[in-house]
Amino acid sequence: MKKTVFIKSYGCQMNLYDSGRMADALAPLGFERVDDGDSADLVILNTCHIREKATEKLFSELGRLKDLKLARAGVGRKLTIAVAGCVAQAEGQEILRRMPYVDLVFGPQTYHRLPALLARAERDGGYALDTEFPPEDKFDHIPIVRDTSPVSAFLSVQEGCDKFCTFCVVPYTRGAETSRNVESIESEARALVASGARELVLLGQNVNAYHGAGLDGSFSFARLIARLSQIDGLERIRYTTSHPRDMQDDLIEAHSTNSKLMPYLHLPLQSGSNRILAAMNRQHRVQDYVRLIERVRTARPDIAIAGDFIVGFPGEADADFEATLDAVREVNYAAAFSFKYSPRPGTPAAAMPDQVPEPLKEERLTRLQALLTEQQLAFNRSLVGKSVDVLFEKPGRHPGQMGGRSPYLQAVHVDGISGHVRTGEIHRVEIISGQTMSLAGRLVNSTRAAAE
Ligand code: SAH
Ligand code: SF4
Ligand code: F3S
Repeated sequence: MKKTVFIKSYGCQMNLYDSGRMADALAPLGFERVDDGDSADLVILNTCHIREKATEKLFSELGRLKDLKLARAGVGRKLTIAVAGCVAQAEGQEILRRMPYVDLVFGPQTYHRLPALLARAERDGGYALDTEFPPEDKFDHIPIVRDTSPVSAFLSVQEGCDKFCTFCVVPYTRGAETSRNVESIESEARALVASGARELVLLGQNVNAYHGAGLDGSFSFARLIARLSQIDGLERIRYTTSHPRDMQDDLIEAHSTNSKLMPYLHLPLQSGSNRILAAMNRQHRVQDYVRLIERVRTARPDIAIAGDFIVGFPGEADADFEATLDAVREVNYAAAFSFKYSPRPGTPAAAMPDQVPEPLKEERLTRLQALLTEQQLAFNRSLVGKSVDVLFEKPGRHPGQMGGRSPYLQAVHVDGISGHVRTGEIHRVEIISGQTMSLAGRLVNSTRAAAE
């Protein structure tokens, strides 16, 4: 019998990717993935634990699902509720205690066992909980069953983290750092390209720490990229997120030599103060980061640099925050994500003295974001009058419009071309205007297709 599953993803791209793999794991049981949570037989909330707000969102969504479940029971229909992802891993027992109508709870490392978990909950008439870190590799247990892939597809290559930054839950929710083996990644990459992907975004919490096994020895991340770039039909490779300490020479060099590797680097700095970086256990100094960026820019002068920042880490004084603004001015970012420090249960920073009051965090975030937005707008406007290759991903918001991405990951839209440009094609586009979040352009010529 046909059944439907609705999967809602919170948090990072790894969760989005995992949601796709959960759908793959369920497909053999007859589950079709749908976009509507109100009619689905199974609803999976794939959760994020990184900041407090993310966790609050989960509990409010669960309240809504409880009402839906009760209403369904009234008309003799069943709703199965599952909580997956990083909150499930961190607070599995707590979720079941507070929300007894939840049927399944499983962590990021056990979703390949989803069919067995469903059967168990069904058979026992109660809940099933699985938040182990199992020895087997989940990716080896899930078939790739997709007929179509998005033009830009995510592909997890590395998971977990051993770095234990003092503010961060990832080492606890995702477990120890592991790299998938090369053959498994390559066969998935080929399947994604065969089903329509033109760009692969290689994912990992510390993706550039990748060191996977291949049939002919161990692979650095740069070597993995070189291997994947041999796939015909694959036009672009990106990766996220990197750690400054793992930015190896061969990866920097790949940015100068590999034409499929896009000129965009997401390299979080978190703070521009060495004192705060030390308290965060980032294990590098601001000057190390700035030098690294200089080396990357020497290899690929036009590369767009993106960053992550946390304001209001415990003990952050005005001078520390000013140092962050100085570092941002020195690096000059094309894009950035910035957050107020959020104390996470069980992490060392949550117990540190001198927690920064909320209004001060707010004020610092506003000032930092004003500077970052100014830089992003300046970067976007610097492309006006220039031509870039755009990989078209989908129809735009207006009739006739198509939307895609520049090599620098900027959203670009072009009017009046939907008749002769298809998704998955790359065309040369002249940029005619730039806003903070997107660019507008016109086709320079319409002869260069992705298949060339
Ligand atoms: N592995 C990546 C980051 C993964 S988490 C790295 O090391 O850079 C994504 C981002 O969330 C982080 O870069 C950080 O800026 C932010 N973040 C993580 N924990 C946080 C917390 N407790 N409060 C606020 N922001 C946080
Ligand atoms: Fe979290 Fe990234 Fe630090 Fe790992 S390196 S603990 S994922 S911030
Ligand atoms: Fe959130 Fe887990 Fe990703 S905590 S950011 S979903 S690794």
